[in-house]
Amino acid sequence: MSETTPLPFLPGWNVDLRPPRKETDFETCLAGINDPEIRQFLKNDLPTYKPDEEEWFEKRMRRSETNIPLAIQTKQGEFLGMTGLHHISWKDGTARTGTVIFRKDFWGRGMGVEAKMLLLNYGFNTIRLRRIASAVYAFNERSLRCQLRCGYQEEGRFRAHTWKQRYLNGVWDNGAFYDVIQLGLLREEWLPLGTESQKRKGVGA
Ligand SMILES: CC(C)(COP(=O)(O)OP(=O)(O)OC[C@H]1O[C@@H](n2cnc3c(N)ncnc32)[C@H](O)[C@@H]1OP(=O)(O)O)[C@@H](O)C(=O)NCCC(=O)NCCS
Repeated sequence: MSETTPLPFLPGWNVDLRPPRKETDFETCLAGINDPEIRQFLKNDLPTYKPDEEEWFEKRMRRSETNIPLAIQTKQGEFLGMTGLHHISWKDGTARTGTVIFRKDFWGRGMGVEAKMLLLNYGFNTIRLRRIASAVYAFNERSLRCQLRCGYQEEGRFRAHTWKQRYLNGVWDNGAFYDVIQLGLLREEWLPLGTESQKRKGVGA
């Protein structure tokens, strides 16, 4: 696996994963990151300035030996968000994931679980990773439930680790320190779930 290995196209039932494209994806990413309702769940605390974000997009979306970025799109080709395998260690067979659906009108419709299952199928079955990890702010119930549905297990909790402001009912609160939940998933734990999900939905077929 090298920087020149092409990124995959991973077909699903309601969504596909495909290589990111700045022309079609960047403006939605920028708008999403600058939307307080979305940003409260991400690492970014402040709004982002377009040139900085362009630089970030180009860097983050570049395929490298340790980074496999993928865009989530509907079957009709509409860009929804980003996911990927990051910080890959080929020696250890490990990676970290992160997922964001920038289109809020698609939240809670099963797209997150499906996108993650496609990614995990690629990670565990195609490139043969053995462990995939993730982290989530304890207040982000939807993301936590999404990851637990995909088989991740809570492995630890960094107590009062990160200061975040919540954006609730259209207003930023004054901020507080929140726990960060560390999640992990081993290949052998995921395989039965992945097989079941493929049977049910044709995911990864
Ligand atoms: C987190 C995210 C990727 C999940 O994707 P999604 O398509 O919205 O989630 P899904 O519809 O697949 O649902 C996942 C689970 O969350 C549950 N859920 C949906 N809406 C919820 C809500 N408002 N509160 C709590 N749980 C909720 C679903 O019921 C499902 O759990 P279940 O299968 O046990 O019933 C997406 O919501 C998102 O991008 N959010 C903003 C950015 C973010 O939080 N990224 C993750 C950072 S760690």
